[in-house]
Amino acid sequence: MSKRNRSGLYAALCGLALAACHRAAPEALSAGPLPARVAPSAAAQALLDQLPPAYRQADLQNGRLHFNLCRACHTITPGGPDMTGPNLYGVFGRKVASKAGYSYSAALSKKDWTWDAEHLDGWLKSPRTYAPGTKMSFYGIPDDEDRRDLIAYLKVASSGGPD
Ligand code: HEC
Repeated sequence: MSKRNRSGLYAALCGLALAACHRAAPEALSAGPLPARVAPSAAAQALLDQLPPAYRQADLQNGRLHFNLCRACHTITPGGPDMTGPNLYGVFGRKVASKAGYSYSAALSKKDWTWDAEHLDGWLKSPRTYAPGTKMSFYGIPDDEDRRDLIAYLKVASSGGPD
């Protein structure tokens, strides 16, 4: 596709998603490939800035995409229902296996960490290795960058953030 056509397409798409495009448009309309990472909103970036440095440049779009792997079993919105897994709203800073009304495995219940980026990283790399006996039957996300992006997305989404 020529740059001219691509710009036209971009403008058309922006008509549908004005707020997001407002941030990305200057880079997207310049020569060269479309940007790989859409800059987060200021509110989302402020949440990412609470995490260790590696997460501050995370790609939230990629993280959101990977959260699709979790949606079959988890909601992340405030007051969302527990499904096979517990609702994840407010998971950062929450003690492991402590969501009221959800019935955890004995294996996870006897752990005593508080969820932060580091614990989520270990858990999501391989839940069964991190907490043997867990009933979260999910293989894990072995790719370091995808896991980083997912955890960044979790931070924003589980805080009721805009992205
Ligand atoms: C097949 C269903 C399933 C999938 C898919 C799944 N989970 Fe889970 N998840 C569970 C279950 C069940 C538990 C409770 C584990 C236990 O009690 O041992 C859990 C627990 C958790 C916890 C601990 C919550 C707490 O309150 O301590 C986190 C965090 C979590 N999952 C995140 C994720 C993320 C992020 C993904 C996607 C990458 C994901 N899960 C995919 C079923 C699932």
